[in-house]
Order: sequence, then C-alpha cells, then structure tokens
Amino acid sequence: MNIAKRNFDAVIVGAGGAGMRAAVQLAEAGMKTAVLSKVFPTRSHTVAAQGGVSASLGNSEPDNWHWHMYDTVKGSDWLGDQDAIEFMCKKAVEVVVELEHYGMPFDRLDNGKIYQRPFGGHLSHFGEGKPVRRACAAADRTGHAMLHALYQRNVRANTQFFVEWMALDLLRGVDGRVLGVIAMEMETGEITVFQAKATLFASGGSGRIYYSSTNAFINTGDGLGMAARAGIPLEDMEFWQFHPTGVAGAGVLITEGVRGEGGILRNSSGEAFMERYAPNAKDLASRDVVSRAMVTEINEGRGCGPNKDHVLLDITHLDPKVILSRLPGIREISIQFAGVDPIKAPIPVVPTCHYQMGGVPTNYHGEVVVGGQRVEGFYAAGEVACASVHGANRLGTNSLLDLLVFGKSSGESMIEFIKSEPSALPDVPQSEIDRSLARVNRLDTQTNGANVDEARLAMQRTMQAHAGVFRFKDLLSEGVSKILEIEKQVVQTEIKDKSKVWNTARIEALELENLIEVAKATMISADARTESRGAHVRDDALDTPETPNGRDDVNWLKHTLWYRDGNRLDYKAVNLKPLTVETVALKKRTY
Ligand code: FUM
Repeated sequence: MNIAKRNFDAVIVGAGGAGMRAAVQLAEAGMKTAVLSKVFPTRSHTVAAQGGVSASLGNSEPDNWHWHMYDTVKGSDWLGDQDAIEFMCKKAVEVVVELEHYGMPFDRLDNGKIYQRPFGGHLSHFGEGKPVRRACAAADRTGHAMLHALYQRNVRANTQFFVEWMALDLLRGVDGRVLGVIAMEMETGEITVFQAKATLFASGGSGRIYYSSTNAFINTGDGLGMAARAGIPLEDMEFWQFHPTGVAGAGVLITEGVRGEGGILRNSSGEAFMERYAPNAKDLASRDVVSRAMVTEINEGRGCGPNKDHVLLDITHLDPKVILSRLPGIREISIQFAGVDPIKAPIPVVPTCHYQMGGVPTNYHGEVVVGGQRVEGFYAAGEVACASVHGANRLGTNSLLDLLVFGKSSGESMIEFIKSEPSALPDVPQSEIDRSLARVNRLDTQTNGANVDEARLAMQRTMQAHAGVFRFKDLLSEGVSKILEIEKQVVQTEIKDKSKVWNTARIEALELENLIEVAKATMISADARTESRGAHVRDDALDTPETPNGRDDVNWLKHTLWYRDGNRLDYKAVNLKPLTVETVALKKRTY
C-alpha cells in the first residue's frame, strides 16, 4: 500500500487548550506546525470547562503562588511532584495575562481587573484560612472562551490545522526516538504519515471508559492507547476524579463555580451536609472529599428523589442577577437536562467521572521521560500527560492552568529540540507503518467478531461498578479479570460497513482499542495499590495514626507505571523537592 507522507517541524495531536497553546509557541517561532484534531478545534473538550482557570492574581483579596502551591500539593494528597507544582503555580499569572492579551474575554471587576471566584480546595494561608478567589472566569464558559482566543491566535500564526483527522499510532525509529504519527482522514479514510522532528500528544483524556461521564464522546484516550502500544508506560492511572456535580441521570457537568458563587449541597432532609464532612471548607472542600460525602449520604439513605439516588445543589437563595450573569450556562443545562430552573428549584446531582489524573509520564518541560531518560522527539501536555501536578486528586481550575503552562513549556522545549536537529530525519521504519496498518486492515477482514457498542458498554459498566468513587478489594480483582475478558472482544470487533468515506463505525472500533488500554491500566494499577490516597479510596485501607485516612506513605508514596507488555507494573519515586522553596511536608489531609 502506498502511503502519503508529509513533513513538519512539529506535529501536535489534539487541538484543545494544551495543543493550541503549544502550537502558538511553535508557529510564532516560525516552526512548520501541524495540529491534528478529530473535531474542529473550538469543539475540543476544553470547550466544556466551565468555572475558571486558577492563578493567584489576588484581584479581590490577598493571594500568592505559595498558597496555591500548598493547596495543589495537599489536593494531590502528596503524590504530585513538587518541582512541577511549583513551576505551574508560579507561571500561572504569566500565562493568564498572556491569554488576556490574546483577547480572552474574561469577566471583569468594576476596576477592570479579571473577575475571580472561589473553587474547591483553594484556600488562603497555607490551607488554614478561608476559600480564596483564585479562579479567573469568563462566566461559566471559561474553556469555550479560551479555545476561541487560542484558535484565533493560531490562525494569525499560520498553524496548519488538519481537522477531522484521527491519529492512529505513534511512529518510532530503530533507536526508539519518535518520528511522528500515522493518521487517518475521517472524511476519506485515507492514511498519511506525518513525520516531524518533534511530536506532541495533547489529545486529552479518556473519561469515556466510564459509563457515567462529563467527558465528550471524543475523549477516548487515543494518546494513551498510542503511547501504550509504542511501549511507553502510563503513570498513575488508578487515580480518576469524580466531579461532585454531574446532572443526575445525564452526567452533564454543573460547574463547581456554582458552589464558588454560594451554592449548597443538600440531602433529603434539606441538610447542608458538607458542614459535617469538611467543617472549614464545607462545600468548597476538594472534589474527592465532596464526592465521597455525597455517595455516603446516598448510601446511608439520605439521597433525594423517588429512588433516593442523588443529592440537591441549591442556589435558590442567590440573587437571580448573579445566576443570570455569572452562571448562565448551568441554568441552561439544568433546564435542558434536569428539567429545573435553578433560580426556582435545586438541581439533582451525582458524582460523575470527570478527569484522569494520570497519563504519559513527562517532566515540567513537557518532555516524555521513561526510566529517567527522555524519549527523544516526544512530548505530552494537558490531560493526556502526567507531569505530575495533580497527583492523586486534581483541584478544580488547575486543569485549564495545566493546559496553558505545560502547553507553553512543551512548545518551548520543542523549539529548542527542533533547532538542534539535523535537517533530514531518518525514514520511518516500514515495520512501524505496517504495525498500524494491520490494526486498520483487520477491520476489513474480520468476520464473526464482537459488536463494538456491546464491548464498549461492557467495559464502561465494569469500570463504573468496579473502580468507582469507593473501591473494594474484591471488586477490584474481579474487575481486572472482567476487563481482560472484554479485551478479548475488543481485539476482534467486527464492523459490518467496510466503506471508507465517513465511516464512523470504523472510527469507533479504533477508539475502543484505545479505551481498553486505559481501562486495563486503571483497573490493574488500582488493584495493586493497597492504600487510600486522594481519589483512590479502598475499603481495606484503614485510618490509623501511621496511615492517615488510609494513606500509607511508607509503602505507597510512589508513582505507578503500567506497561502494556504483560500488564507489568513498575513504580518510581515522587519528587518531594520543589525548585526553590521548602518541601510541603506530609500531613493528614483535612478540609
Ligand atoms: O467545575 C468546573 O467548572 C470544572 C473545572 C475543572 O474541572 O477544572
């Protein structure tokens, strides 16, 4: 088969916040930059981010990056690498101001400064004070506004977008260096090799491994699947964030900014129950804490509705003007998906899968690092990457910040690398191309295979039941067996329609092959980690003075690395040493 080839300085997979921020950096430096995206850039999943991007601007009250760093380390339950966390929190002001200069339409205070609202886990005075206004917001459509600002800047910089292209596999040379990706044009089914000196994965998350998710249908872990097949381990995949407020039954996100503006969670007797679970931060405790409190209320019979299967998010006490100006999007979502106008009645909500804390292992320059060595030519940023700034639990609004900071730092590292490279790259080995084509071609010949929808549903239900908000030893080990059984279906799926043009069945079958890699990584890593930390809470991990909240720092203060080959697990140390300041010392996490 004759495959078309194209050459670039840089190829970026994904046109969300991280991909487009990196592309701005590269294209403005004169690098020939290609961005591949399954959807039009402004429809990337970053568009769904609502409440804000964190930066200690201190526009409404005192704040500084040291407090932000403290909150992020504590939020991560000390699994985050403190060098990367310092880097991100320090850079926050710079990247937000840059975005403002790109034309981002932030809401404004009367004095013209960027409007900021409180968010969960962001507190003053090293966690001892009250929630602090750190989330820079454009109403409740911050991600939407951000994508438009970044897209416009890229158009100005002559970035080349390949829209409705799906990357299939990472291409590596005989020496292991990365040489680009092989990709499919979804409209025609044609396949092209994109060769580049530097390749960035900014392909987002994989929340679609779960049945109930705030994630877009495009979030199928394509970057993670490609990395795993290319021999790169996936880091800390046991840690999944369940956002406390997905619309019950629909999963659509209701921003934490609602609680930032004064919203209160209530149980069936109308009690503001978070006061019992987090006496200081209350409804603005970190997400893992709030989600567990909600599930506990439901499990103990204090849920709402005929099935007692959700709680209520109440903003009826807020001035309707605040709702209409600061939260117009969630009002619309509530009316559309829950049938309630939140000005008049509370919104039914349940914790819903939202974010993967783990990903492709990188340092804070966006360079992919395995076994202490850089994988030459390979970079990752945003949700697909694990820098690791979020550790075992991410704070809300730190994801948009992560996109900007590490999108930019990856772009900078790639520019340096591209400049140092000889002008001609080695050819991509034919075996690499054949490996990928074999996957695509199997779908043309497979008979008596499994149904894609059924296999995906089985995977999603298994993940939901066996690796949810609370985790149980027996359910996890059963979950491993079930996911490995489902994998056998996934590698022999059959599509009835073998045509090439806009064949979404083919795309979905290929996406499922990525999702299953993430599901395996998650279940196997979670089964192995026998402590509770952040979002990973097990029934068999006990709260003792030596293991606060079930966290076992003696044995488990380490990152997990899952390798696809043999489902092997390895571990690496957490970096507790920041760049310039003192280590944030370990202690029991309470809010
Ligand atoms: O609640 C939200 O607006 C989501 C923000 C985030 O995930 O950072």
